[in-house]
Amino acid sequence: MLSISKFLGLVGLVTPATSSPTHAKRAPTIYLAGDSTMARGGGGGNTATDGWGNFFPYSVSLPVVNKAIGGRSARSFTVEGRFDEITRLVQPNDIVIIEFGHNDGGSLSSSDNGRTACPGAGSETCKSVYNGQQVTVLTYPAYLINAGRALTAKGAKVIISSPTPNNPWEGGGFVYSPSRFTTYSKSAAASIGSNAFFVDHGQYTANIFQSFGKQRVDSFFPNDHTHTSPAGADTVSRAFVKGLLCAGGSFLSGSIKNSTGSVEGNCI
Ligand SMILES: *[C@@H]1O[C@H](CO)[C@@H](O)[C@H](O)[C@H]1NC(C)=O
Repeated sequence: MLSISKFLGLVGLVTPATSSPTHAKRAPTIYLAGDSTMARGGGGGNTATDGWGNFFPYSVSLPVVNKAIGGRSARSFTVEGRFDEITRLVQPNDIVIIEFGHNDGGSLSSSDNGRTACPGAGSETCKSVYNGQQVTVLTYPAYLINAGRALTAKGAKVIISSPTPNNPWEGGGFVYSPSRFTTYSKSAAASIGSNAFFVDHGQYTANIFQSFGKQRVDSFFPNDHTHTSPAGADTVSRAFVKGLLCAGGSFLSGSIKNSTGSVEGNCI
C-alpha cells in the first residue's frame, strides 16, 4: 500500500511547490458558437427576446464567452471567420458549444442567401453564386466537422448541440419533429471523435415544453415561433444543462452548479 508520505512525495515530483505564477492552473473557458436562439438579445432586436447563451453562465462555475450571433448558419459562421477566431482563442481544455440549424436550410438553386448549406450529410459540395462570386458550398456536417477538428487539434473539447425547437404548440396540439440538422449534429460529433460530444438539446427542450403546456410555452414566443422571451431562453438553457447532467456532465463534469434532480425534465 502506498503510504501518504510516499504519495505526497510522488505528487511533489510532478508538482513542484515552487511553480511560477505563469504555470498557475488556468480555469477552462467555455465558448458558445451559434445563432440568434443562443445570442445575446435573441433575434427580435428588442428586449422581448433573448438567447439561451445569456442564461447558461448561471449554471456553470467557468467563464462563458458568448460568440453566438443572430442570422448565422454553420456556413456563414465559417465563411465570416468566426470559427477561426474561436480556434485562435482556445487553449487546451477549453470547451466550445456549437449549435446551429435555424438558418442552414433552404435552397441554393433559386438564390443563395449565404447561409444555406449544400444538401447532404457528408462531403458533397455545391457550386453557387453568392454576392456575385462563384463559391463552393459544403454540407452542414462538413462545416461542423471542419470547425470541430480545428478546435480539438488545439486541445479544446467540442459539444455539438441540436437546434432548439420552434414553438411545438403553435398548431394547437403539441408537435415536435426534429429537423435533419439534429441527425447531422449527432453524426458530426461522432465524426470529430472522442473530444466531441452530442447533446440533443432540441429533444430535451421539446420534452420540457410539452410538460409546461401550450399557454406557458406560447408566452415564451412573443414575436414569432423561433425566438424566445428571456423566460423562454432560461428554460432552453436549463434544458441544455439537463442534457449535460444526464450525460454525467460531459466535458463540464464538476463545473455544473446544479444536481440532475434539481433541473426539470427527464433524462432521455
Ligand atoms: C443552477 O444553480 C444556479 C445557482 O443556484 C441557478 O442560478 C441556476 O439557474 C441553476 N440552473 C439550473 C439549470 O437549474
